Amino acid sequence: MPSKSFSKRVLQWHAHSGRHDLPWQQDPTPYRVWVSEIMLQQTQVATVIPYFLNCMRRYPDVHSLAAAPLDEVLHMWTGLGYYARARNMHKAAVIVSNELEGKFPRTVESLCELPGIGRSTAGAILSLGSNVRAPILDGNVKRVLCRFHMIEGWPDKPTVQKVLWKIAEEDTPKAGFKEYTQAMMDLGATVCTRSKPQCENCPLQKDCKAYSNEATSEFPHRKPKTQIPTKHTHMLICQDEQRRILLEKRPDSGIWGGLWSFPEFEDETSINAFLANMRLSAKALEPWDEIKHTFSHFHLKIKPIRAQIDDSTQTIMEQGRWLWYSLEQETSVGLAAPIKTMLDKLRTQYRAKP
Ligand code: ADE
Ligand code: SF4
Repeated sequence: MPSKSFSKRVLQWHAHSGRHDLPWQQDPTPYRVWVSEIMLQQTQVATVIPYFLNCMRRYPDVHSLAAAPLDEVLHMWTGLGYYARARNMHKAAVIVSNELEGKFPRTVESLCELPGIGRSTAGAILSLGSNVRAPILDGNVKRVLCRFHMIEGWPDKPTVQKVLWKIAEEDTPKAGFKEYTQAMMDLGATVCTRSKPQCENCPLQKDCKAYSNEATSEFPHRKPKTQIPTKHTHMLICQDEQRRILLEKRPDSGIWGGLWSFPEFEDETSINAFLANMRLSAKALEPWDEIKHTFSHFHLKIKPIRAQIDDSTQTIMEQGRWLWYSLEQETSVGLAAPIKTMLDKLRTQYRAKP
């Protein structure tokens, strides 16, 4: 389908069903559009309106905003959330006021150099406020395009973004780009909504792929959960009669390289074999609740097993690899975080008998 009829239908829809009375649509200067777009980045229209009006009353132009103390601007922002937006907005106002004679840049690239302005916000400022044609791709537009074309993949993934920007650019008409820009935002916000889109009221329905495939709820695709594997291990917590814990030094490479840890085993059978081998006679083995520790590339589920040793004097051990770690006088050795946590638990839960 040619892009022309796409934008035509969106424009026609906007004429009767779009929003025309938002405060930033009245006297849409780059300054007013910029402030509104920053406020609208993470906040709903209804919430933004009173803040926008208040901001315009206090700071009618970019110079007055630049001259205001940051604290005052932050105070005005109270309740809107995401305060980095206010700090960036103030910073950008200072730059525009002091270095650009109060004039907002008229290209996407130079607008993007100002703090808090990304490519889509730049497009909106240009299209809506500066009469310069530039596409936008905010969350609303992404949703409409992903559904209309059934675009696979998470929309914020760089390869998908590239495809979306290309479509957004081609769809933006030469004439009426301002109305078109507002129309796409409105369509996404009021018709092609996140859940339960009102396809029966949508001007794009007849060519919308997601609609004809009854797949609107599947698009846009969600951010993939990074799947990382889970590994399992048993850790033997050997405690002797002097309240010392047996630690083993880990190999220098791999996770926790060179740190001290409890000896690790695949299963309980190998624990018994180890104890026999080391001539450690243990009373009953006491299993603790499983602990989950997450590394960047896998989860580790640790099953700790505590063994109270009767007599540790019989053991012969390789120097440098084994250490009887005293719970009373902490030796300064490197310990992995979960090991430290378990040692702390031993220290508090298995106090020395008076
Ligand atoms: N969200 C972001 N920009 C908007 C605008 N100009 N109108 C309505 N909603 C918006
Ligand atoms: Fe969105 Fe439905 Fe319109 Fe398709 S037909 S663009 S899913 S509202």
